[in-house]
Amino acid sequence: MIVGVATAGRRSVAWYAMDGSAKYRSIQRSSATGQRDTSATAPNQLPYHAEPRPHRLATTMTLRIFAFVLASSFITTCAAQSAPPPDPVIKDKVALCATCHGEGGNSKVPTYPILAGQNSRYLYLQLQDFKAARRQNDEMSPVAATLSREDMLALADYFSKVKEAPNGFVADGAKVALGRKKSDEVLCPMCHQGGFIGQNEIPRVAGQQYGYIKKQLGDFKARRRTNDAGNMTSVASTLSDDDIENLSQYIANLY
Ligand code: HEC
Ligand code: HEC
Repeated sequence: MIVGVATAGRRSVAWYAMDGSAKYRSIQRSSATGQRDTSATAPNQLPYHAEPRPHRLATTMTLRIFAFVLASSFITTCAAQSAPPPDPVIKDKVALCATCHGEGGNSKVPTYPILAGQNSRYLYLQLQDFKAARRQNDEMSPVAATLSREDMLALADYFSKVKEAPNGFVADGAKVALGRKKSDEVLCPMCHQGGFIGQNEIPRVAGQQYGYIKKQLGDFKARRRTNDAGNMTSVASTLSDDDIENLSQYIANLY
Protein backbone atom coordinates (compact mmCIF):
# COMPACT_ATOMS: atom_id res chain seq x y z
CA MET A 1 0.00 0.00 0.00
CA ILE A 2 2.65 2.51 1.06
CA VAL A 3 4.92 1.49 -1.85
CA GLY A 4 2.04 2.15 -4.28
CA VAL A 5 1.45 5.66 -2.98
CA ALA A 6 5.16 6.54 -3.01
CA THR A 7 5.56 5.23 -6.59
CA ALA A 8 2.60 7.25 -7.85
CA GLY A 9 4.00 10.37 -6.17
CA ARG A 10 7.44 9.89 -7.71
CA ARG A 11 6.03 9.25 -11.16
CA SER A 12 4.09 12.50 -11.08
CA VAL A 13 7.25 14.36 -10.06
CA ALA A 14 9.13 12.83 -13.01
CA TRP A 15 6.42 13.84 -15.48
CA TYR A 16 6.41 17.33 -14.10
CA ALA A 17 10.19 17.63 -14.43
CA MET A 18 10.00 16.61 -18.11
CA ASP A 19 7.29 19.13 -18.95
CA GLY A 20 8.89 21.82 -16.80
CA SER A 21 12.27 21.67 -18.54
CA ALA A 22 10.71 21.75 -22.03
CA LYS A 23 8.64 24.76 -21.04
CA TYR A 24 11.59 26.45 -19.46
CA ARG A 25 13.53 26.46 -22.71
CA SER A 26 10.69 28.11 -24.58
CA ILE A 27 10.28 30.71 -21.82
CA GLN A 28 13.98 31.61 -21.98
CA ARG A 29 13.64 32.41 -25.66
CA SER A 30 10.58 34.58 -25.29
CA SER A 31 12.00 36.39 -22.25
CA ALA A 32 14.82 37.73 -24.41
CA THR A 33 12.63 40.47 -25.90
CA GLY A 34 11.51 41.73 -22.50
CA GLN A 35 8.26 42.78 -24.14
CA ARG A 36 4.83 41.83 -22.92
CA ASP A 37 3.25 40.04 -25.87
CA THR A 38 -0.36 39.56 -24.79
CA SER A 39 -1.39 38.19 -28.19
CA ALA A 40 0.36 34.93 -27.27
CA THR A 41 -2.32 34.23 -24.65
CA ALA A 42 -5.08 33.88 -27.26
CA PRO A 43 -6.37 30.30 -27.02
CA ASN A 44 -5.75 29.49 -30.69
CA GLN A 45 -2.17 30.72 -30.53
CA LEU A 46 -0.96 28.88 -27.48
CA PRO A 47 2.82 28.98 -27.67
CA TYR A 48 3.47 25.59 -26.16
CA HIS A 49 1.91 22.20 -26.79
CA ALA A 50 2.51 19.43 -24.30
CA GLU A 51 1.41 16.45 -26.43
CA PRO A 52 4.28 14.36 -27.81
CA ARG A 53 4.15 13.65 -31.57
CA PRO A 54 3.51 9.96 -32.36
CA HIS A 55 6.83 9.33 -34.17
CA ARG A 56 8.69 10.66 -31.16
CA LEU A 57 6.91 8.38 -28.75
CA ALA A 58 9.74 5.88 -28.30
CA THR A 59 12.30 8.59 -27.51
CA THR A 60 9.83 10.34 -25.23
CA MET A 61 9.17 7.12 -23.32
CA THR A 62 12.91 6.52 -22.86
CA LEU A 63 13.37 10.09 -21.68
CA ARG A 64 10.47 9.75 -19.28
CA ILE A 65 11.95 6.59 -17.77
CA PHE A 66 15.29 8.39 -17.48
CA ALA A 67 13.60 11.39 -15.84
CA PHE A 68 11.75 9.03 -13.53
CA VAL A 69 15.02 7.44 -12.37
CA LEU A 70 16.63 10.87 -11.95
CA ALA A 71 13.67 12.22 -10.00
CA SER A 72 13.60 9.14 -7.77
CA SER A 73 17.28 9.44 -6.86
CA PHE A 74 16.88 13.20 -6.40
CA ILE A 75 14.09 12.63 -3.90
CA THR A 76 16.08 10.00 -2.02
CA THR A 77 19.22 12.13 -1.73
CA CYS A 78 17.72 15.60 -1.31
CA ALA A 79 14.42 14.93 0.44
CA ALA A 80 15.20 17.28 3.32
CA GLN A 81 16.57 20.10 1.13
CA SER A 82 13.57 22.29 0.29
CA ALA A 83 15.18 25.02 -1.84
CA PRO A 84 18.48 25.18 -3.78
CA PRO A 85 20.88 28.04 -2.94
CA PRO A 86 20.15 31.09 -5.15
CA ASP A 87 22.73 32.85 -7.32
CA PRO A 88 24.81 35.18 -5.04
CA VAL A 89 23.65 38.20 -7.10
CA ILE A 90 20.02 37.76 -5.97
CA LYS A 91 20.67 36.08 -2.58
CA ASP A 92 19.59 39.11 -0.49
CA LYS A 93 16.52 39.66 -2.63
CA VAL A 94 15.46 36.01 -2.33
CA ALA A 95 15.76 36.37 1.47
CA LEU A 96 13.47 39.43 1.32
CA CYS A 97 10.90 37.56 -0.79
CA ALA A 98 10.99 34.73 1.76
CA THR A 99 9.75 37.01 4.56
CA CYS A 100 6.32 36.98 2.89
CA HIS A 101 6.39 34.20 0.25
CA GLY A 102 8.13 31.61 2.46
CA GLU A 103 11.43 29.78 1.96
CA GLY A 104 12.04 29.13 -1.74
CA GLY A 105 8.68 30.79 -2.48
CA ASN A 106 6.74 27.96 -0.82
CA SER A 107 4.32 30.21 1.06
CA LYS A 108 2.51 28.78 4.08
CA VAL A 109 0.24 31.83 4.41
CA PRO A 110 -3.07 32.07 2.43
CA THR A 111 -2.63 35.75 1.43
CA TYR A 112 0.87 35.21 -0.03
CA PRO A 113 1.01 33.27 -3.31
CA ILE A 114 3.31 30.28 -3.76
CA LEU A 115 6.01 31.27 -6.28
CA ALA A 116 7.85 27.91 -6.28
CA GLY A 117 7.28 25.93 -9.49
CA GLN A 118 5.44 28.82 -11.16
CA ASN A 119 6.22 29.47 -14.85
CA SER A 120 9.24 31.71 -15.23
CA ARG A 121 7.68 33.84 -17.96
CA TYR A 122 4.54 34.47 -15.88
CA LEU A 123 6.56 35.46 -12.77
CA TYR A 124 8.67 37.87 -14.79
CA LEU A 125 5.62 39.55 -16.36
CA GLN A 126 3.91 39.96 -12.96
CA LEU A 127 7.01 41.63 -11.49
CA GLN A 128 7.11 43.99 -14.47
CA ASP A 129 3.39 44.71 -14.08
CA PHE A 130 3.76 45.52 -10.34
CA LYS A 131 6.68 47.86 -11.09
CA ALA A 132 4.75 49.61 -13.88
CA ALA A 133 1.62 49.80 -11.66
CA ARG A 134 -0.43 47.74 -14.13
CA ARG A 135 -1.04 45.49 -11.11
CA GLN A 136 -1.16 46.98 -7.62
CA ASN A 137 -0.81 45.70 -4.08
CA ASP A 138 0.23 47.65 -0.96
CA GLU A 139 2.77 45.02 0.08
CA MET A 140 4.10 43.85 -3.29
CA SER A 141 4.26 47.09 -5.32
CA PRO A 142 6.98 48.76 -3.19
CA VAL A 143 9.14 45.61 -3.42
CA ALA A 144 8.81 45.41 -7.23
CA ALA A 145 9.74 49.10 -7.49
CA THR A 146 13.26 48.25 -6.24
CA LEU A 147 13.91 45.51 -8.84
CA SER A 148 15.84 45.90 -12.10
CA ARG A 149 14.97 43.92 -15.23
CA GLU A 150 17.96 41.63 -14.56
CA ASP A 151 16.76 41.04 -10.97
CA MET A 152 13.29 40.14 -12.26
CA LEU A 153 14.61 37.67 -14.84
CA ALA A 154 16.94 36.03 -12.27
CA LEU A 155 14.23 35.86 -9.56
CA ALA A 156 11.67 34.44 -12.00
CA ASP A 157 14.21 31.85 -13.15
CA TYR A 158 15.09 30.93 -9.55
CA PHE A 159 11.53 30.48 -8.21
CA SER A 160 10.38 28.58 -11.31
CA LYS A 161 13.03 25.95 -10.60
CA VAL A 162 12.17 25.34 -6.92
CA LYS A 163 9.87 22.34 -6.43
CA GLU A 164 6.52 23.46 -5.07
CA ALA A 165 5.48 21.93 -1.73
CA PRO A 166 1.91 20.84 -0.88
CA ASN A 167 -0.09 23.79 0.51
CA GLY A 168 -1.67 21.75 3.33
CA PHE A 169 -5.18 22.88 2.37
CA VAL A 170 -7.98 20.63 3.66
CA ALA A 171 -10.69 20.77 1.00
CA ASP A 172 -14.45 20.19 1.20
CA GLY A 173 -15.14 17.21 -1.12
CA ALA A 174 -18.57 18.41 -2.26
CA LYS A 175 -17.23 21.87 -3.19
CA VAL A 176 -14.26 20.32 -5.02
CA ALA A 177 -16.67 18.27 -7.18
CA LEU A 178 -18.77 21.37 -7.97
CA GLY A 179 -15.61 23.37 -8.74
CA ARG A 180 -14.34 20.72 -11.17
CA LYS A 181 -17.70 20.70 -12.94
CA LYS A 182 -17.71 24.50 -13.26
CA SER A 183 -14.13 24.53 -14.54
CA ASP A 184 -15.03 22.09 -17.34
CA GLU A 185 -18.22 24.00 -18.13
CA VAL A 186 -16.52 27.40 -18.59
CA LEU A 187 -13.37 25.91 -20.18
CA CYS A 188 -10.71 27.09 -17.71
CA PRO A 189 -8.39 24.27 -18.97
CA MET A 190 -8.51 25.73 -22.51
CA CYS A 191 -5.91 28.22 -21.28
CA HIS A 192 -4.58 26.85 -17.97
CA GLN A 193 -4.38 23.26 -19.32
CA GLY A 194 -5.85 20.20 -17.61
CA GLY A 195 -4.97 20.13 -13.92
CA PHE A 196 -4.23 23.91 -14.02
CA ILE A 197 -0.50 23.37 -14.68
CA GLY A 198 -0.32 26.51 -16.85
CA GLN A 199 2.09 27.36 -19.66
CA ASN A 200 4.37 30.34 -20.39
CA GLU A 201 2.45 33.51 -19.45
CA ILE A 202 -0.56 31.51 -18.25
CA PRO A 203 0.03 30.73 -14.57
CA ARG A 204 0.10 27.40 -12.86
CA VAL A 205 -2.73 27.62 -10.28
CA ALA A 206 -2.75 23.96 -9.17
CA GLY A 207 -1.96 23.71 -5.45
CA GLN A 208 -1.82 27.52 -5.03
CA GLN A 209 -2.97 28.98 -1.69
CA TYR A 210 -6.79 28.79 -1.42
CA GLY A 211 -7.15 32.32 0.04
CA TYR A 212 -4.98 33.80 -2.70
CA ILE A 213 -6.90 32.06 -5.56
CA LYS A 214 -10.22 33.25 -4.11
CA LYS A 215 -8.97 36.83 -3.79
CA GLN A 216 -7.65 36.88 -7.39
CA LEU A 217 -10.91 35.57 -8.86
CA GLY A 218 -12.80 38.22 -6.86
CA ASP A 219 -10.31 40.90 -7.96
CA PHE A 220 -10.68 39.95 -11.65
CA LYS A 221 -14.47 39.92 -11.33
CA ALA A 222 -14.55 43.36 -9.63
CA ARG A 223 -11.87 44.61 -12.07
CA ARG A 224 -9.51 45.45 -9.23
CA ARG A 225 -6.94 43.34 -11.14
CA THR A 226 -6.86 44.26 -14.84
CA ASN A 227 -3.38 43.26 -16.06
CA ASP A 228 -4.71 40.15 -17.84
CA ALA A 229 -5.49 41.58 -21.32
CA GLY A 230 -9.14 40.68 -20.70
CA ASN A 231 -8.52 36.92 -20.49
CA MET A 232 -9.60 36.60 -16.86
CA THR A 233 -11.90 39.59 -16.36
CA SER A 234 -14.29 38.26 -19.03
CA VAL A 235 -14.52 34.72 -17.64
CA ALA A 236 -14.61 35.92 -13.99
CA SER A 237 -17.56 38.23 -14.72
CA THR A 238 -19.69 35.12 -15.38
CA LEU A 239 -18.85 33.52 -11.99
CA SER A 240 -21.10 33.74 -8.90
CA ASP A 241 -19.66 33.93 -5.36
CA ASP A 242 -20.45 30.23 -4.96
CA ASP A 243 -18.64 29.41 -8.22
CA ILE A 244 -15.57 31.31 -6.97
CA GLU A 245 -15.64 29.44 -3.66
CA ASN A 246 -16.02 26.03 -5.39
CA LEU A 247 -13.36 26.73 -8.03
CA SER A 248 -10.90 27.92 -5.34
CA GLN A 249 -11.49 24.74 -3.33
CA TYR A 250 -11.02 22.57 -6.43
CA ILE A 251 -7.84 24.25 -7.70
CA ALA A 252 -6.16 24.60 -4.27
CA ASN A 253 -6.74 20.87 -3.84
CA LEU A 254 -4.88 19.98 -7.11
CA TYR A 255 -1.23 19.10 -6.78
C1 HEC B 1 5.79 42.41 2.36
C2 HEC B 1 5.37 41.16 1.77
C3 HEC B 1 5.95 40.78 0.41
C4 HEC B 1 7.28 40.71 0.05
C5 HEC B 1 8.51 41.06 0.88
C6 HEC B 1 7.30 40.22 -1.31
N1 HEC B 1 6.02 39.99 -1.77
FE1 HEC B 1 5.47 39.28 -3.59
N2 HEC B 1 3.50 39.45 -3.10
C7 HEC B 1 3.01 39.87 -1.86
C8 HEC B 1 1.56 39.82 -1.89
C9 HEC B 1 0.62 40.19 -0.74
C10 HEC B 1 1.19 39.37 -3.18
C11 HEC B 1 -0.24 39.14 -3.70
C12 HEC B 1 -0.83 40.43 -4.22
C13 HEC B 1 -2.28 40.26 -4.59
O1 HEC B 1 -3.08 39.83 -3.74
O2 HEC B 1 -2.62 40.55 -5.74
C14 HEC B 1 2.43 39.16 -3.91
C15 HEC B 1 2.49 38.71 -5.23
C16 HEC B 1 3.64 38.40 -5.90
C17 HEC B 1 3.71 37.88 -7.24
C18 HEC B 1 2.53 37.52 -8.13
C19 HEC B 1 2.29 36.02 -7.98
C20 HEC B 1 1.16 35.50 -8.82
O3 HEC B 1 0.89 34.29 -8.72
O4 HEC B 1 0.55 36.26 -9.56
C21 HEC B 1 5.03 37.70 -7.54
C22 HEC B 1 5.61 37.16 -8.85
C23 HEC B 1 5.80 38.11 -6.39
N3 HEC B 1 4.93 38.55 -5.41
C24 HEC B 1 7.18 38.06 -6.33
C25 HEC B 1 7.93 38.52 -5.24
C26 HEC B 1 9.36 38.53 -5.22
C27 HEC B 1 10.26 38.01 -6.33
C28 HEC B 1 9.74 39.09 -4.02
C29 HEC B 1 11.14 39.39 -3.52
C30 HEC B 1 11.95 40.25 -4.39
C31 HEC B 1 8.51 39.41 -3.30
N4 HEC B 1 7.44 39.05 -4.08
C32 HEC B 1 8.45 39.99 -2.04
C33 HEC B 1 3.77 40.24 -0.78
C34 HEC B 1 5.16 40.33 -0.74
C1 HEC C 1 -8.65 32.86 -22.25
C2 HEC C 1 -7.64 32.21 -21.40
C3 HEC C 1 -8.03 31.96 -19.94
C4 HEC C 1 -9.16 31.32 -19.46
C5 HEC C 1 -10.31 30.73 -20.23
C6 HEC C 1 -9.00 31.29 -18.01
N1 HEC C 1 -7.82 31.89 -17.65
FE1 HEC C 1 -7.17 32.19 -15.74
N2 HEC C 1 -5.60 33.31 -16.44
C7 HEC C 1 -5.31 33.49 -17.77
C8 HEC C 1 -4.15 34.38 -17.88
C9 HEC C 1 -3.46 34.82 -19.16
C10 HEC C 1 -3.78 34.72 -16.55
C11 HEC C 1 -2.65 35.66 -16.12
C12 HEC C 1 -3.12 37.08 -16.22
C13 HEC C 1 -1.98 38.07 -16.03
O1 HEC C 1 -1.06 38.06 -16.85
O2 HEC C 1 -2.01 38.81 -15.07
C14 HEC C 1 -4.73 34.03 -15.67
C15 HEC C 1 -4.71 34.11 -14.28
C16 HEC C 1 -5.52 33.37 -13.43
C17 HEC C 1 -5.45 33.37 -11.99
C18 HEC C 1 -4.46 34.18 -11.14
C19 HEC C 1 -3.28 33.31 -10.82
C20 HEC C 1 -2.21 34.00 -10.03
O3 HEC C 1 -1.20 33.35 -9.73
O4 HEC C 1 -2.36 35.18 -9.70
C21 HEC C 1 -6.38 32.50 -11.54
C22 HEC C 1 -6.68 32.14 -10.09
C23 HEC C 1 -7.07 31.95 -12.69
N3 HEC C 1 -6.51 32.50 -13.83
C24 HEC C 1 -8.10 31.01 -12.65
C25 HEC C 1 -8.90 30.69 -13.74
C26 HEC C 1 -10.14 29.96 -13.64
C27 HEC C 1 -10.71 29.39 -12.35
C28 HEC C 1 -10.67 29.91 -14.90
C29 HEC C 1 -12.01 29.36 -15.32
C30 HEC C 1 -13.16 29.91 -14.60
C31 HEC C 1 -9.74 30.58 -15.79
N4 HEC C 1 -8.67 31.04 -15.05
C32 HEC C 1 -9.92 30.73 -17.15
C33 HEC C 1 -5.97 32.96 -18.86
C34 HEC C 1 -7.20 32.31 -18.80
